[in-house]
Amino acid sequence: MRIILLGAPGSGKGTQGDLLEKRTGFPRISTGDLLRLAVRRKTPLGLRAEAFMVQGLLVSDEVVEGLVRERIAEADCRVGYILDGFPRTIAQAEALAAMDGGRPEIVIGIEVDSEILIERLCGRRVCPACQAVYNVSVQSPARPGVCDACGRGLVQRPDDTAEVIRKRIAVYLEQTAPLKDYYRRKNEFRAVDGQGPTEEIAAAIARILDGTPAGTTAETAEDGRKDRRSPA
Ligand code: AP5
Repeated sequence: MRIILLGAPGSGKGTQGDLLEKRTGFPRISTGDLLRLAVRRKTPLGLRAEAFMVQGLLVSDEVVEGLVRERIAEADCRVGYILDGFPRTIAQAEALAAMDGGRPEIVIGIEVDSEILIERLCGRRVCPACQAVYNVSVQSPARPGVCDACGRGLVQRPDDTAEVIRKRIAVYLEQTAPLKDYYRRKNEFRAVDGQGPTEEIAAAIARILDGTPAGTTAETAEDGRKDRRSPA
């Protein structure tokens, strides 16, 4: 089994991916995390990737595909895995199908409006030691600016500035959003409204994975966002 989380920067792929990892036992593989690790370690790949990441641009398909190929060959991915942030281009999707094509696959599109993405990402804080993710407004730590898990001071990601966030969203719309139609054509794409509370979104994803009809959430067929014109 392979679960692909598809969504704009700040849509909650990492947040939902963590919850899904706990629920399914499948490892979450975030290409952003793999690249940031390479940057922190100052590997040759990390040094090359950093220049693209700080500008909000995509790292080359070849580099990212290599990272994913290595990671999914590990033993913990045998039964299933969750991809967060990969594929991000049609070429990456085709490379994934070529490297591990036989698996059942479901693609969850997390839909969030652009203004909300910007607000979330400007408010995101991360722990540089354990990589825990917080938000100054909705998911703040017990002590402001300090990681609940390990006590380190929280920081902002270098690509979480308003200017770079806008670039990342533009890159998403141009290069990654076309994957929705790509997976719709394969009948593997399901959208969820990513704008409610985290637990509600996790429940909607769980219903999709369990094969339960969306029923009570009034999701639109178009993009999974709740139709706010409908009565609650
Ligand atoms: P990556 O790290 O993947 O960044 P991203 O796609 O821009 O996604 P984010 O991590 O910013 O957001 P998210 O959707 O995970 O949201 P989160 O859960 O953290 O990639 C970084 C860079 O690496 C790319 O720009 C590119 O350069 C490179 N890269 C990575 N993959 C690549 C690839 N495949 N090909 C080429 N280059 C690649 O949530 C965000 C905030 O919102 C948090 O503060 C969180 O607390 C909050 N939040 C989450 N859910 C909710 C909610 N329901 N309500 C309110 N707040 C919420």
